[in-house]
This record gives sequence, structure tokens and C-alpha cells, in this order.
Amino acid sequence: MLEKGIDKKSIFDKLNDYQKLDLKYESGKILGSMCTKPDPIAMQAYKMFIETNLGDPGLFKGTAIMEEEVISSLGELLHLNNASGHIVTGGTEANIMAMCVAKYLFELRSNNVPEVILPKSAHFSFKKIISMLSLKPVYVPLTDEYKMDVSKIEGLITENTMAIVAIAGTTELGMIDDIEEISRIASSRNIYLHVDAALGGFMIPFMNNENSNKLNFDFKCEGVTSMTIDPHKMGLAPVPAGGIIFRHREHLELLAVKTPYLTKDNQTTIVGTRTGAATAATWTLLNYYGKEGYREIVKKTLDLTKYTYKKLKNMEHINIICKPELNLISFTANNIPVDNLQEELLEYGWHVSVAEYPHAIRLVLMPHVKKEHIDAFLTDLNKLIKKE
Ligand SMILES: Cc1ncc(COP(=O)(O)O)c(C=O)c1O
Repeated sequence: MLEKGIDKKSIFDKLNDYQKLDLKYESGKILGSMCTKPDPIAMQAYKMFIETNLGDPGLFKGTAIMEEEVISSLGELLHLNNASGHIVTGGTEANIMAMCVAKYLFELRSNNVPEVILPKSAHFSFKKIISMLSLKPVYVPLTDEYKMDVSKIEGLITENTMAIVAIAGTTELGMIDDIEEISRIASSRNIYLHVDAALGGFMIPFMNNENSNKLNFDFKCEGVTSMTIDPHKMGLAPVPAGGIIFRHREHLELLAVKTPYLTKDNQTTIVGTRTGAATAATWTLLNYYGKEGYREIVKKTLDLTKYTYKKLKNMEHINIICKPELNLISFTANNIPVDNLQEELLEYGWHVSVAEYPHAIRLVLMPHVKKEHIDAFLTDLNKLIKKE
């Protein structure tokens, strides 16, 4: 730290230099991120509430009301009346909260090591959770469609099963587990079921194609106990905006810790001080777009995914891993190893990511990605493949 501060102009010159090093979503070059350019109206709301702290909600009563309204709207979107939950920093924190609740419930009946049944496709946040909460992971293999193999679940349940986790929109491929069937198993065995819909939560309710009309993935399934749904992914909110929704208020209250020096008696979040700006941004987006607006956003994203899928499918040497269910497409090229292809694409300025299972190039078609970006990307990809 400097002994004596420097002038504002020098500071902002330096900030501009740093900012120039950052990638911009609007460049269209970011093809592997689950976050996107926040909507301008959300940024306006965010700035308006930037000084708020929902860790001390008695001081920021209006912002606290907005959080309740956001949780209630997200609950309603996911077929739940009287939802409880919070706007948190992201999917990781939301998943941690759900697993904490499941562990506290488990501890009411057992001193054994709690086991969590989860698909191999679960986000790496669960690796952190398993370590932090000293859980025993019980991994369920995936089907040929890269979904949790439901037929294996019953055989993995023991008296120490603390929870089942299912995913609505896997991180690597965007696949949606058969939540209806998993919920049936969880209900019949009275097991806590958490659905990680960090990505899918802001997509599946707005998809009106034949597939999703049939898709029951939320609290409509009686066995679903809690859900993660992230506004800072397909909700278009600025980071940090994750969402955790609990079916039962008593479950959220298991997280309560007394907060003697603050304006409310207790806190049910993991973090203490937390921004209300993300809540204000999410409240704004939900009210500004409504279901109709989000349907349009999701449709555009899925239309571009279909377009990209068809083009890739017809490209020589390209093998697509599976038909997309959401806005992710993964593929390999039979003449260039995945990691080399990623590096070569980077030389053209394309920031794609790589899926681990199966090892493949992974594209995420978030709303900042437009058709012209995809056309330019496919032209470069084609050049690289032909060159080999
Ligand atoms: C399915 C899923 N769950 C959880 C997360 C973690 O979210 P975050 O990075 O916001 O903590 C992600 C992130 O990509 C995800 O895809």
C-alpha cells in the first residue's frame, strides 16, 4: 500500500489499463462462460443499491422486502407457494446452504458419516461441499445420454443417505436429469432431494417446446426439497446473484445463527455482510421482463444453439457429444486432440472451454453470443480442421 495516495486521474488511467486486459462479453469471443453481459436495467438498479447490506436487513428495509419478493417470484416460477430462501453469491453458496440443511436434518437422527448421492455430472462445488461438511460422496454413473442413471439410485441408498442431488442443466453438457423419477424415489424413501438448477432454473420454465412442456423439474415434483437457481447466469443479473429456494421455512431456519449486534435477531445465510444490489438487480429484471420477456430471451438463445448444432453436425471431422437440451454444445474433432484444438482456437481469439467428461470442446451460447459471432467462429474452426 502506498504511503500517500495518488491523484484521481492517474488512478483512472491505471484502472482503464487494467480494464483493457479484461475480455468483453460483447466481443462475442467468450464462448465458454455461464455468465453473460448483465442487462443495462439491472446494472442501473445495481448501482442504485450499491451501498446496501442485507447482512443487516433492519437498516435496509426496502431492500429486504425486495429480497422477499424475489424469493417469492422465483418460488412461484418453480411451482412453489410461500418459498423461503435467499439471493446469495452464486450456485456454489446456494448448494452449500442446501447441503448444510440436509446435514443438520441428518444429524437429528444419526451420528454416522452422512452420505450424499449425486451424479458424476455434478458441479465441482459439490467437491468443496463434500470436503467442507465431511460428507461421503456416493456417485451415480451417467446414462449414454449423460444423465444420472436413475435405475442405480435405489441400490445406493443406505441408512446413512443424507440427501440426493440432481441437476437441471449440467455444467458440462446442459443435460437435465429425470427429476420427476428421482423425486419419486426420494419421496418414497423420505430422503432430502436438492435440485441444482443453477443454469436450468432460468431456462426450463420459459421453454415452450414439446420437450419442456412435459418436463417436471421443480417443486411440482413433491420430493424436491430445495433448488438452486442463479440470476447471474441466464437471469441476466450482474454477479454475485445466486438463488437458493427451500420448500419448508423450517429448513431455512435450521441455518439461523443469533446476531446480537445487528438489527435482526438472526441470520440464515452463510456469509454475513452481503450486497443488496444483486437483489435489487434481480427484482428489476423479474419485473421488467416478466415471463414473456424471459421466454423471448431463452428462445433466442435456444434458436442460436440449434443453428450452431446443425452447422457443427454438418461439418467434416466434427463429432457432437449429444443433442443439446439447453444452450450448451460439446464436440470433438477426429483430426485434432481436444486440448490442441482449444489452444488453436484461442490463437484466433476464441475462448472456448473444455469439458472433462467426456473430454470435449464445450460451447455455452449465452445471450451475449450472436449469430455473427457463431458464423465467424465456425469459419475459423473449419479453417483449423481443414489445415490438419
Ligand atoms: C450446475 C451448476 N451448479 C453450480 C454452479 C456454481 O455456480 P457459481 O459459479 O455461481 O458459484 C455452476 C456454475 O457453473 C453450475 O453450472
